[in-house]
Amino acid sequence: MKKISNKYANYIPMRELNTVEHQLFPFDVYNELLEQSPVRYDENRSCWDVFRYEDVQYVLKNPKLFSSRRNRANRESMLTQDPPKHKQLRDLVNQAFTPRKIEELAPHIQNIADDLLAPHLQQGQLQLVYDLATPLPVIVIAELLGVPSSDRDRFKEWSDILVKGARNDSDEAFQELMEEKDRTNAELGAYFGRIIQERRQSAQDDLISLLIAADIEGEHLTEDEIISFCILLLAAGNETTTNLITNAVRILAEQPELQQQLREHPEMIPTAVEETLRYYPPIVAIGRVAKEDIELRGQQIREGEQVISWVGAANRDEQKFANSDTFIPDRKPNQHMGFGFGIHFCLGAPLARLEGRVVLNTLLRHMDRIALVEGTQLEPIQSAFVFGVKEYPITFQPI
Ligand code: HEM
Repeated sequence: MKKISNKYANYIPMRELNTVEHQLFPFDVYNELLEQSPVRYDENRSCWDVFRYEDVQYVLKNPKLFSSRRNRANRESMLTQDPPKHKQLRDLVNQAFTPRKIEELAPHIQNIADDLLAPHLQQGQLQLVYDLATPLPVIVIAELLGVPSSDRDRFKEWSDILVKGARNDSDEAFQELMEEKDRTNAELGAYFGRIIQERRQSAQDDLISLLIAADIEGEHLTEDEIISFCILLLAAGNETTTNLITNAVRILAEQPELQQQLREHPEMIPTAVEETLRYYPPIVAIGRVAKEDIELRGQQIREGEQVISWVGAANRDEQKFANSDTFIPDRKPNQHMGFGFGIHFCLGAPLARLEGRVVLNTLLRHMDRIALVEGTQLEPIQSAFVFGVKEYPITFQPI
């Protein structure tokens, strides 16, 4: 096996997860790795893997030791910056992206969910990913940014490419993927560049206008930084939320007794969303690069090596979560790391949570006996760090 550069680790699944069965349900493999090799070097992907809760938390809360800076992949954004630049960007963006601003969206998100579901409710069937879980977050982000929702199909294509993994571990496939990502970034750059120019001429009541106006002691975001942030929202906010919705419904279909329980106790829905983020997290792995030689659990990590933190495994660590393999809809406390941990903790968490709650509430109000269409062969999403399925067709009894 030819040695490959460490930038591949983000795009190639680990060998232990090379079957469809394991990709659809990686948690037994995670548990095994967590027990047997909690911190290990994978020659195949040229990176370290870290599985235990305590160790993942250590990596994520120490940006001085573990950097978020990567050679390439997507554009530079706060996600791939370290302090102090990271804080400067995040503080500026925070002025526009406040939890209050997000909470105001609740009735709007409800309308979008109702509109998307209306044509399907009487039929008793839904292509969950296509009909609801994909368009909902795309429409929400498009409207938040102030771009026409008529562009949402293009948005979906763009965001798919931004998070896509390689077909296989050949150099050609990797090269092809990187070129596709570069092209998409360029297209998106031009697209958002035009909208930013328009908003500079006349501000609207939207996020891009707020980002242009954001000001901390005279510091503003540059055009490039605004573009990068818009692209980050597409890349970080769409597919993740799609998978949160799909993974939540998958749990309801796999454990049907939860449907009645949550319908009778809608107050449990917020904690059930948190438990989904622990039990079937949309993001299972987070990459960092060691900034110096570091010893972790007796292993010697060297400066410059990639370190992959498996939050999907950490979320199942029995040391942290009792009955970790059981979905407990009102689990409390629930310090899962589905949104990461530390300075890069997901900026969009309030929005993702809100969308998750609205959707679960709406589905349970309108649908009884939600089940996967019989005979469906589930297909995992091809990505080393995203956990989800491409489609999840359901049947249900309209209420
Ligand atoms: C960061 C997960 C939805 C925007 C992150 C990180 C994770 C994550 C794990 C940390 C990455 C790291 O440490 O390197 C998720 C999940 C979501 C979700 C599971 C849905 C269920 C969203 C949404 C948005 C968003 C809806 C925006 C609209 C961001 C941004 C960051 C981020 C901007 C970077 C924050 C920083 O670097 O300081 N997300 N995310 N995410 N997320 Fe999310």
